[in-house]
Amino acid sequence: MAAVSAVPGLGLAADRSFSPSLAALARAKGLRFGSAVGMGTFNDPRYRQVLIDECGVLVPENELKWYVLRPDAKTFAFGRADRIAAFAKAHDIALRGHTLLWHHPKWFPAWLNAYDFGQGPAAAKNAQALLVDHIDKVVAHYPQIASWDVVNETIDPKDGSIRRTVFSDAMGQEQTLDVAFHAARAAAPKARLVYNDYMGWEAGNEAHRAGVLKLLEGFRKRGTPVDALGVQSHLGTEDPAAPGSLGRPQEKAWRAFIDEATGMGYDLLITEFDVNDQNLPADIAVRDADTAAVAKAYLDLMLDYRQTKEVLAWGMVDKYSWLQGFTPRKDGLAMRVTLYDDAYRPKPLREAVAAALRSAPARA
Ligand code: G3I
Repeated sequence: MAAVSAVPGLGLAADRSFSPSLAALARAKGLRFGSAVGMGTFNDPRYRQVLIDECGVLVPENELKWYVLRPDAKTFAFGRADRIAAFAKAHDIALRGHTLLWHHPKWFPAWLNAYDFGQGPAAAKNAQALLVDHIDKVVAHYPQIASWDVVNETIDPKDGSIRRTVFSDAMGQEQTLDVAFHAARAAAPKARLVYNDYMGWEAGNEAHRAGVLKLLEGFRKRGTPVDALGVQSHLGTEDPAAPGSLGRPQEKAWRAFIDEATGMGYDLLITEFDVNDQNLPADIAVRDADTAAVAKAYLDLMLDYRQTKEVLAWGMVDKYSWLQGFTPRKDGLAMRVTLYDDAYRPKPLREAVAAALRSAPARA
């Protein structure tokens, strides 16, 4: 039966010729489907309606990052994330957390990059106190969050090393990450704790994947409480050797990577799904068909692993995607990277996700 959604205040009924929702298709297989939502998009009632119609979980896109939450060392500015949390609650949608520690100096607030922790052993103690206090307070503020990206993107894709920050200069690199996970476990003993990164299946990601595996191995050796690997899944690539395409997927190497991660006992999450069409031809039908085909192949592979527990899109409507600004197309055309077009109509990419959820094996 067709689902028809009224959009309050707009005096129109969006014509949705599909049912059930992606959230329901996911739920039927023991999975969760949802999306990121940022403040800009959140102010658009039609966008909110798509979230209500499709999502079982929402992730604040930027609103839980240090640079938004922490204007200074003492203040926690929860207002923006609280609005998203209240919306999720009002519509009975779960909330997921991104991220307690984006361990990259580029995404630290300026005051944190300049923070003086002192010298010697005191520096490690002070750094630990600041990090643990942040995690304690943020996690305690959102007790409803059952899945947290604790650490985000700390592997340098160039050589697989762990990035340096003021925290790691004071505490050590592995130690900093361990402190974050232990603090998260203590604050949310039942939550799924995730290491999240963007190593992908395309050629060019080899060093990144190797670095992530080494990191995951280290967590296991040291008994660091990490439950899952967040595979961001920004498909498509800037691969200069593959013009006019969506990159060169290395299926065998990718399976080996996923096998190693799951072999260490990690669950998997698809945390930031979208398909970058910057290198595809202008023709919309061609682009939509290509992005849908690659998405289906990728999601089939990933959902075949019973360890994959959640599928999150990084935004639901093309015009609001971060990719429009990050990798604009050379021909100036708008990108078509998410599940819905700019008129809030579902695209072939949405059907690819639905089809992958339908054919996914059920998990316990
Ligand atoms: O809100 C301000 C606006 O007031 C200002 O006019 C404008 C000028 O640049 O900037 C706006 O802030 C931007 C913000 O997104 C909100 O749109 C920031 O510049 C921009 O850097 C920020 O980008 C976000 C990026 O993370 C960095 O935090 C993207 O929205 C967000 O989609 C992206 O998400 C990341 C994940 O967290 C981690 N994985 C990769 C993913 C994509 O880069």
